[in-house]
Amino acid sequence: MELLNLIVFPLLFLSPVATAATDLEYEYIVVGSGAGGGPLASRLAREGRKTLLIEAGSDQSDNLNTTVPGYQAAVTEDPSLRWDIFVNHYQDQTRAQHDPKYTWETAPFEYHVGPNPPEGASPRGILYPRAQALGGCTPHNALIWITPHDSDWDNIASLTGDSSWAHENMDQYLQKVYEWLYTEPTDPTILLNDLPLAQQYVAGAAASGQGPDPLNAVEGLLNLLGNDPNSQINPTRDSTQGFFQVPLTMNAGNRTDVSQFIKSTVAEGFPLDVRTNAFVTKITFDQSGATPKATGVEFQDGEYLYRASPRSLHSRPGVSGSAKAAKELIISAGAYNTPQLLKLSGIGPKEELAKFNIPIVKDLPGVGTNLMDRYEVPVNVQHEKDFPILKGCTFDEKPHDECLKKWEDNPYILGQRGAYATNGLAATLAVNSDYASTSDIDLYIFGGPINFQGYFPGWAEQAVADHSHFSWYTLKAHGRNRAGTVELQSTDPFDQPRINFNYFDTGTTAGGADDLDVGAIVQAINISRNALSEYYNYGILGGSPFEEENPGKDVTGDEDLEQYAKDVAWGHHASCTAAIGGEDDPNSVLDSQFRVRGVQNLRVVDASIFPDIPGVFITAPIYIISEKAADVILNGSK
Ligand SMILES: Cc1cc2nc3c(=O)[nH]c(=O)nc-3n(C[C@H](O)[C@H](O)[C@H](O)COP(=O)(O)OP(=O)(O)OC[C@H]3O[C@@H](n4cnc5c(N)ncnc54)[C@H](O)[C@@H]3O)c2cc1C
Ligand SMILES: *[C@@H]1O[C@H](CO)[C@@H](O)[C@H](O)[C@H]1NC(C)=O
Ligand SMILES: *[C@@H]1O[C@H](CO)[C@@H](O)[C@H](O)[C@H]1NC(C)=O
Ligand SMILES: *[C@@H]1O[C@H](CO)[C@@H](O)[C@H](O)[C@H]1NC(C)=O
Repeated sequence: MELLNLIVFPLLFLSPVATAATDLEYEYIVVGSGAGGGPLASRLAREGRKTLLIEAGSDQSDNLNTTVPGYQAAVTEDPSLRWDIFVNHYQDQTRAQHDPKYTWETAPFEYHVGPNPPEGASPRGILYPRAQALGGCTPHNALIWITPHDSDWDNIASLTGDSSWAHENMDQYLQKVYEWLYTEPTDPTILLNDLPLAQQYVAGAAASGQGPDPLNAVEGLLNLLGNDPNSQINPTRDSTQGFFQVPLTMNAGNRTDVSQFIKSTVAEGFPLDVRTNAFVTKITFDQSGATPKATGVEFQDGEYLYRASPRSLHSRPGVSGSAKAAKELIISAGAYNTPQLLKLSGIGPKEELAKFNIPIVKDLPGVGTNLMDRYEVPVNVQHEKDFPILKGCTFDEKPHDECLKKWEDNPYILGQRGAYATNGLAATLAVNSDYASTSDIDLYIFGGPINFQGYFPGWAEQAVADHSHFSWYTLKAHGRNRAGTVELQSTDPFDQPRINFNYFDTGTTAGGADDLDVGAIVQAINISRNALSEYYNYGILGGSPFEEENPGKDVTGDEDLEQYAKDVAWGHHASCTAAIGGEDDPNSVLDSQFRVRGVQNLRVVDASIFPDIPGVFITAPIYIISEKAADVILNGSK
């Protein structure tokens, strides 16, 4: 145990100047420590397998930005872990610029957001925050924990004929996740300290048909906040509409994520080496046999090597290294970096690889196609008065941040930790829209005292710049657009790939797919506005009047609202770019056991593997498939 710690801790807290390491030998190598790679690497090591987990970022768990749930906006702008990835929602740049979030770069990592850029600025598109860190995006996401729908798994079972994906069998993997992950909702008593905020929520309940009598508003709301959207006992949970609490990856008001599981695996002496600040540049193969066999990776030790990091401007060059996996290599670099790494290593569409003179190891046309995401759209209002709960919150961790002090001074009683012991989104409406293909919930409409309009440079400051905004914002689940792509921009592994989402009518349109998706969003905007009008029926709680800012009260009628949705929608659940599929599907990249088709000893386990974007949120399904992959790798298929 002592000896192991000696080996492991210097790696975990690697100093900036790395020593070259070549031909390291492991049974398993996992690339990327996020939602997909983290649980898997930990499980392999816990079963005694000598495992290397390679992660581009570093351990940020002592950083308050990743610990305080109330800093969920600030953390996405923290240069110690953020990657500024830019994407296109529309390839037509004129159309793309209808989005007020469209961003120009005026100097490296300095941005102009919106129209009228200064002369010489270069167009970048839409910011898509990602993280490099132990735990991947899980220490910097919005903490929302929603488990997937049964149909998500059953569809994979029927697509592949592999019944181990049936939802009855998948439940065990969710229970495995709960062995190491704490989740809890916002403590409802926190809301009792802010009746004007409670008034917005109770109005949301009314819009979902569950509004309590105004004289009973507070008690009624507290009861409704007992509704768990992840209920494991409600047999019709996937289609149950209504007003719900929002479960968070949080323990007693601290953020929880997979980095804690990884660290405890190391601390308990299991054979897991975590190599942070190391970026994998290539998969190596043995091509002497009939099918290519993955043998390991080439990497570079060094901090902030990927150019999406603002710190890359001043990073020192990396030091080359390599490692061999006697059994298997698993790629878990996320929906953008996994296809990029596969392609750079010779696995992908042969025309694209040929264009970059990359020797083809295996022609797999599906790599980097089928990119899916959800659409999110806000309805925002500004009140005449501030929300009391946010008094003293600066959201920036400066000494005068009274809300941080409250969070720090009350470590044990959740209800007393205040506004920072929540991500700010305490409740959601769950809806099966008129445009849904099945009875599954396909709309979540969240409410919170925040000015949330999506991601752009500076979004975190704007979101909390004042304390008088409230947003109902919609997330459209089970969307139909699968026309996104992740393509190489160059052969330099440190350049971000070119990402085109091809939104709405520029993407999947068969069967009116785009109209159905946008119709559901407009219905959600209508519901959000119903919630806002219900607000005035609960005036007894003392809230102040408000004005709608977005879409704005002049934007009415389905056509205008559709245009609004198409202009401003965003997403943050990118997935499906190296999808599992049936034997006879030429675009399927993986078989039902996560194995890259036509290559030995190589699997993919992260957001990329889904044939169809699962459920309402993405972290829970990724953690679940990571647990499944560990079982498949350790015990074979059953
Ligand atoms: C701002 C934001 C808010 C979000 N909010 C929520 C939410 O509330 N709820 C929810 O369910 N989901 C949320 N998500 C999405 C969710 O967190 C991610 O989809 C999920 O973490 C993806 O898991 P992954 O394993 O596929 O990739 P990641 O978690 O991104 O992990 C990939 C890891 O691989 C590393 N890596 C990449 N390339 C290399 C390389 N070549 N060499 C070495 N390492 C490499 C990266 O550094 C990273 O750590 C949010 C995402 C963002 C960005
Ligand atoms: C937290 O993130 C903010 C950016 O949002 C940054 O200014 C601050 O320095 C970060 N804090 C730490 C401890 O890194
Ligand atoms: C929460 O985090 C603080 C450090 O920020 C730590 O002292 C405390 O023990 C943590 N509590 C739990 C329950 O993990
Ligand atoms: C939204 O509400 C308007 C006004 O009530 C109505 O005309 C329209 O059909 C609704 N749209 C959708 C998509 O539900």
